[in-house]
Amino acid sequence: MDLFEKLSSNMGPLALHADEAKGYYTFPKLEGEIAPRMMFNGEERLIWSLNNYLGLANHPEVRKADADATAAYGLAYPMGARMMSGNSTNHELLEEELSKFVQKEDTMLLNFGYQGVLSIIDAVVDRHDVIVYDAESHACIIDGVRLHQGKRFVYAHNDMENLEKQLGRATKLAEKTGGAILVITEGVFGMSGNQGDLKGVIELKKKYNFRLLVDDAHGFGTLGKTGAGAGEEQGVQQDIDLYFSTFAKSMASIGAFVSGDKKIIEYLRYNTRSQIFAKSVPMPLVIGALKRLELLQTQPEIKANLWKVVDALQGGLRKEGFNIGTTKSCVTPVILNGTVEEALHLIHDLRENYGIFCSIVVYPVVPKGIIMLRLIPTAAHSLDDVEMTIKAFGAIKEKLANGEYQKNEVADLSLG
Ligand SMILES: Cc1ncc(COP(=O)(O)O)c(C=O)c1O
Repeated sequence: MDLFEKLSSNMGPLALHADEAKGYYTFPKLEGEIAPRMMFNGEERLIWSLNNYLGLANHPEVRKADADATAAYGLAYPMGARMMSGNSTNHELLEEELSKFVQKEDTMLLNFGYQGVLSIIDAVVDRHDVIVYDAESHACIIDGVRLHQGKRFVYAHNDMENLEKQLGRATKLAEKTGGAILVITEGVFGMSGNQGDLKGVIELKKKYNFRLLVDDAHGFGTLGKTGAGAGEEQGVQQDIDLYFSTFAKSMASIGAFVSGDKKIIEYLRYNTRSQIFAKSVPMPLVIGALKRLELLQTQPEIKANLWKVVDALQGGLRKEGFNIGTTKSCVTPVILNGTVEEALHLIHDLRENYGIFCSIVVYPVVPKGIIMLRLIPTAAHSLDDVEMTIKAFGAIKEKLANGEYQKNEVADLSLG
């Protein structure tokens, strides 16, 4: 069989509706400045699908810092991998500032979050070690675990009883192999908005010997008194052994970092293959990240504004009887019942007739029969945006219940 023929005959579950969906449901183009209102297919829409939590993407000071740094350095500098020829004083300064911000001894920058997590996992465990990880972990964790040549145990999402059981199994195995244990979870789970039960996991350190890696992509900048994330929010930041976050969300940029004890971060500098064998973070991104971090520290009102919007949106949806699951973060899922086809009609109606653009998650990402709309409130949204959205959601919920989205054909995309 020809490899490409095989692939063409089964494009995978996400590409199922590719022909009808492309440009509308998948790969849509949001145009204009990054803000709550952007252009989609030539029309202005209210956008709830960007992880620009703090609204920094378009903050004038951020835009200026990005532009000035790009004019000064271009995108090439520094050339090469960090260890060889890609280091700079600003890279080191950003690492120092991040360490202070997340209350850790040291920090290593990563050029991308996804590869970073994968590669950190690869660097810290060998085939004798055992990984124990949350079942709902992000793809970058799952893929890092896939690279692992030793044993792994998965625990039911946030289920501390089950984690303890898996830790018991892992401990026995590690005693046999002479290895150690790494537990991996997230600060905030990006689909449900649940916070990882970091407190619960850390409590188990009293009984079991393991180290904890936390991916706090959605918690950094949004949770905790100073914005240091889910660990700070739960009062356990000091007990997270490796704290990871990306710049792709609250920092509205590209890049990522991992923080922890000096000795271990130094170990990672010399053993993380995604950094040793790839180009360093470009200087404008480093200088831009320093500016963003400064704003996180000096303008706490930005985070306060975010939470005003989050509380209004989540409170309003709950009051109107919507199921928003068990979120304990800004991530706001709205869970409805319906088929994939109904979901497509619903989202089309929401965009074309109510002017609202949000992400939609359907089977196979969520179980059959569930439609999950996912709203990401930001500090840049207004309470009027929230009110308009709750009204629109009330209307589409009623239409869904009345069977109005049960048409046989996929929504007429020529409208879009
Ligand atoms: C939980 C989590 N970890 C890691 C990543 C990957 O980060 P990056 O976009 O920097 O590759 C994401 C998505 O951006 C994420 O949601």
